[in-house]
Amino acid sequence: MTVHTNIQAYYAQRAATYDEIYARPERQADLAILHERLRTLLAGQRVLEIACGTGYWTADLAATAEHVLATDINPAVIDVARARQLPTDKVTFALADAFAAGDKLDRNACFAGFWWSHVGRERQADFLTTLRDRLAPQARLVMIDNVYVEGSSTPIARTDAERNTYQIRRLPNGERHEVLKNFPTDSTLRKAVAAHLKDIRIERLEHYWMLSGRFK
Ligand SMILES: C[S@@+](CC[C@H](N)C(=O)[O-])C[C@H]1O[C@@H](n2cnc3c(N)ncnc32)[C@H](O)[C@@H]1O
Repeated sequence: MTVHTNIQAYYAQRAATYDEIYARPERQADLAILHERLRTLLAGQRVLEIACGTGYWTADLAATAEHVLATDINPAVIDVARARQLPTDKVTFALADAFAAGDKLDRNACFAGFWWSHVGRERQADFLTTLRDRLAPQARLVMIDNVYVEGSSTPIARTDAERNTYQIRRLPNGERHEVLKNFPTDSTLRKAVAAHLKDIRIERLEHYWMLSGRFK
């Protein structure tokens, strides 16, 4: 049976096994580059991490940032992240919906790993506007996400009217979920963020892309 899912429910069920995707041998060289980039780009910053998941990237941020406020909507993944026992003076975990407006935060940078690909194209502008309003002026935004690689990525099963693409993914319990997962080209990415960000840089590796910029 295929469940037409929202990604919140899907990732709640993947909390315990999520980090397996970071063990794939063909992705290790790219991951090493990204760990290095992230530590350098956000060194000394007060970082809001959106959709932190199991804290895989939070550990990098904690190594060089001044402080990380790591947020996710799912308590189950935050429990896994907490078990990493990152320094408590460097990292605070909190439950938060990435799309929700809220009070201004004392944060001059934001990191979102493997989140943008799950944001429907019709929601991207609202997501960026809401995020900007919560950060210090001209805050830096860094995002990492997947490149579609034939033979490594889960095939695309469907494209909707907004040109969002979907994959069918199987959970360990056998359930099949249809998950929104977009694989933008550099020009699609640039177009989506151009009204919101300046100093945009996009780096494309074999398996991943990284975007950095500053809110206007
Ligand atoms: C692909 S995982 C990325 C996790 C982590 N950033 C990483 O790169 O390893 C997507 C994450 O988004 C979270 N999520 C789903 N909907 C969310 C929402 N509305 N607000 C915040 N987090 C959400 C899920 O719980 C999951 O941890």
